[in-house]
Amino acid sequence: MGEIVGAFVKVARVRDIPPGALARVEVAGQLVCLANVDGAIYAVSDDCPHIGGALSDGELAGCVLTCPVHLARFDARTGKVLRGPARDDVPSYAVRVEGDDIYVAVPE
Ligand code: FES
Repeated sequence: MGEIVGAFVKVARVRDIPPGALARVEVAGQLVCLANVDGAIYAVSDDCPHIGGALSDGELAGCVLTCPVHLARFDARTGKVLRGPARDDVPSYAVRVEGDDIYVAVPE
């Protein structure tokens, strides 16, 4: 915990991900799901911790991200699991926005 150390990678532009939208991007070879929650951008792993559904193909309602495969729900802001069948949280990554550019911390 504590200060974020490590690289941030430019992945997308804010204008391409309006509020309520999801987008799949690649960060250092890993698929990441970006979510615009009421104007703030968050990033979680694109792989559902249940059996790997692509979360960016799911739905976002407010901060609730629903997996398209078996409808597990996560808080897109924190990755916290809200409803099964997934039992584990989805990893979340730090996001930085500079102007129109979105940067995501490289997953460890
Ligand atoms: S793969 Fe996401 S809920 Fe099953």
